[in-house]
Amino acid sequence: MDSYQAWTDEVIHRIREKIGWVSEKNRDRIPYTTDADGNYDDRGDQEREWNQDDGLNWWTNGFWGGILWLLYHDTKQERYAELARVSEYRMEECFEQFYGLHHDVGFMFQPTAVADYRLTGNERSRRTALHAANLLAGRFNPVGKFIRAWNQSDGQDVPGWAIIDCMFNISLLYWAAEETKDPRFRHIATMHADTVMEHFIRTDGSVKHIVEFNPETGEEVRSYGGQGYGEGSSWTRGQGWAVYGFMISYRHTGKQEYLDAAKRAAHYCMANIPEDGIIPIDFRQPEEPAWEDSCGACVIAGGLLEIAECVPALEKESYRKAAVRILKAIDQRRADWTRDSDAIVQNCSGAYHNCPHHTTMTYADYFFIEAIYKLRGVDFKVW
Ligand code: GLY
Repeated sequence: MDSYQAWTDEVIHRIREKIGWVSEKNRDRIPYTTDADGNYDDRGDQEREWNQDDGLNWWTNGFWGGILWLLYHDTKQERYAELARVSEYRMEECFEQFYGLHHDVGFMFQPTAVADYRLTGNERSRRTALHAANLLAGRFNPVGKFIRAWNQSDGQDVPGWAIIDCMFNISLLYWAAEETKDPRFRHIATMHADTVMEHFIRTDGSVKHIVEFNPETGEEVRSYGGQGYGEGSSWTRGQGWAVYGFMISYRHTGKQEYLDAAKRAAHYCMANIPEDGIIPIDFRQPEEPAWEDSCGACVIAGGLLEIAECVPALEKESYRKAAVRILKAIDQRRADWTRDSDAIVQNCSGAYHNCPHHTTMTYADYFFIEAIYKLRGVDFKVW
């Protein structure tokens, strides 16, 4: 028996129980975070205006559906497919509105529409996912060879900005290339990944969050600390987007440089994971305030487990051990398995300098659940 099997079986049992009642309670919602009483909000709430970027086109809206597809894959219960489609079908409305859609269509539609199509063959999901992939491809800047992030920052147009997070969005392009046999999608994904490899990963394996390019010439202008502590720092969730993101590119292309890039970012993380496994929001933040980010922790753990699956036997265990240290810290010290909160993973932080800190986020739960299934060897490849 695998040395982690007893523990992962126990956690999976708790996940099934918790998502069982949470999904029933939030049947028609697209949750992002919990309120002071532990109840999920609803980003699909009709009251939210279209020009708000935290409404139906909020970038995390795919993760609740993603959790439900993970549970569907595990339990084979039809009710999870039915509930997952609530988010997927509601988000289709974003195409009609168009304004406010962004590079995060990958985060929105990969764990919903692509997962649905892969698991059930739903043709409507295929059409939705291809539509999203074409919108993402349309954000490619061919001179700078990067996919443009966001639409605005602080009210300013930012046509030259690219961000590390987008390494996840491009999985939608790999899927579209494989599905349609049209290599254009893959070419865009790999050109973007190559640009990120050159401009975002420092020689020590730490990673920049935002790089600004001149959108006319493609030259690098500067970098920004973004959601991390500052320029030159190491936002932990960004480290996770890099480790796991380069593994996505490696799996879809087999290009050795992507595995090497993922390992560089991973080794930097492994050298900085605190003894107790609790991950700060930035590996280079000052001692106080000591903000944590359990969400970044789960993304890093998922990336480490992806590497473990792709390296020779002798190397595997070091990646798995590091991932387990993180996941056990979440399970034992940062998870709420009670009915006090709709969310499992606690102490997540969006950004070092912006409130709220130590809150809940559906995508933390998503990446925690996905990592546990991955460790148990019963995941399906969402990305
Ligand atoms: N993709 C934005 C974030 O990680 O907060």
